[in-house]
Amino acid sequence: MHHLTKGITSRASRRGVLKGGAALGLGAMSFGPMAARLASAQDAGSLEVFSWWTSPGEAPALQALFDAFLAAHPGVEIVNAAVAGGAGVNAQAVLQTRLQGNQPPDSWQTHIGRELVDRYVVPGYCEPITDIYSAEGWADVMPEGLVEQATWESEQYSIPVGVHRGNGFWYNKQVMADNGIEVGDTMTADEFFAAADTLKAAGIPALALAMKDTFAGAQTFENTLLGTVGPDTYNALFQGETAWDDQGVRDAADTYAKMLDYVNEDFSALTWDQATALVIEGGAGFNSMGDWAYGEVVARNAQDNIGWVSHPGSAGSFVLVVDSFTLPVGAPNAENARNWLTVLGSKEAQEAFNPIKGSIPARTDVNRDIFSTYHQWSMDSFANDALVPSCAHGQAASPAFQQAFYDASAAFVSDKDVDAYIAMLSDAAAMDAETTT
Ligand code: GAL
Repeated sequence: MHHLTKGITSRASRRGVLKGGAALGLGAMSFGPMAARLASAQDAGSLEVFSWWTSPGEAPALQALFDAFLAAHPGVEIVNAAVAGGAGVNAQAVLQTRLQGNQPPDSWQTHIGRELVDRYVVPGYCEPITDIYSAEGWADVMPEGLVEQATWESEQYSIPVGVHRGNGFWYNKQVMADNGIEVGDTMTADEFFAAADTLKAAGIPALALAMKDTFAGAQTFENTLLGTVGPDTYNALFQGETAWDDQGVRDAADTYAKMLDYVNEDFSALTWDQATALVIEGGAGFNSMGDWAYGEVVARNAQDNIGWVSHPGSAGSFVLVVDSFTLPVGAPNAENARNWLTVLGSKEAQEAFNPIKGSIPARTDVNRDIFSTYHQWSMDSFANDALVPSCAHGQAASPAFQQAFYDASAAFVSDKDVDAYIAMLSDAAAMDAETTT
């Protein structure tokens, strides 16, 4: 089904219109009971869904959500308004322009936490959906912490569809075997550097990096920071309780600089999914990436040859990247939008979407058996490990700090100047503290 959105790059053609019959294929069969419960007699009109899910792994996952919706509401036309660009860097800019111009889509993708609240709820762009939460009993089937991050002043504003784990470290098993490298259940930074030297001697970049999507530089740093300072100090930094010139941050920057000695030469030209593909194809050893990378593995049918550990040093922590959808103030098709959100919160939609996307469902009452070994590993990590929010994906800090984090990380990838990095992060934190007090 994903041919409808896959590989299409121009914005105009990406706004494909999907209607019931077109998308009701194989997957729709399993939506029977939900479709019957949710179907409304008067379905009509359209539903414009805004996201940044356009990669080979993301697009079919989005399609699974469309299929779930269309199974219950076959008379509605879905307009897929996805804007390409990992982590939504481009999409979020386009969305801001639309919201400021009073032209919202019917629903948009956002991360819960600071991104949802600071960018959209506080400025007044979102309608509360507390009544849908109550009617569907979502608070009873989702972890309290997730519901809290979708809540502002006692009202819920978005429904989480999947929980990504940001601190994945993906590797090509064949490349490791060919070079005599054994990867255990966890990896330390020293173990990574030993493997990296072996790969370097064989002419293989150890770390696939993708700076065309600038988020990758910020994300690799936050993973390295977590792996260096641990979850408590990581949280304390983003909560303003530990200063950014702390020795632990310097140590993390030193380690990051060293890792950058092992990256692919063409990193500035690659998108995140191309970097993941480089590992899948054996052109690089490892990729530090959230588990949307697993969606790429699924899309390429490469599950047997791709292994994973936590980013070096970060085992025992789970970097939260939680995707959710909103209801705008002034949604052109508000009833369809509310029906869309209702479907997204259903067990059936979350069971259809997450195996393809690489994330685990936000609902905890799903059938674990239908998920891959990777998903089950991530579910166990989510249940047992320290949960920390991602800054690269908007949950941990204000939009202003997040931007500074991106800019400082992009500069560091090219100059590896630890003092400048620390100074930029410290300045951004100081400005943030001033504007929030
Ligand atoms: C994240 C998002 C994921 C994935 C990734 C790469 O921000 O939560 O769903 O799409 O960006 O685009």
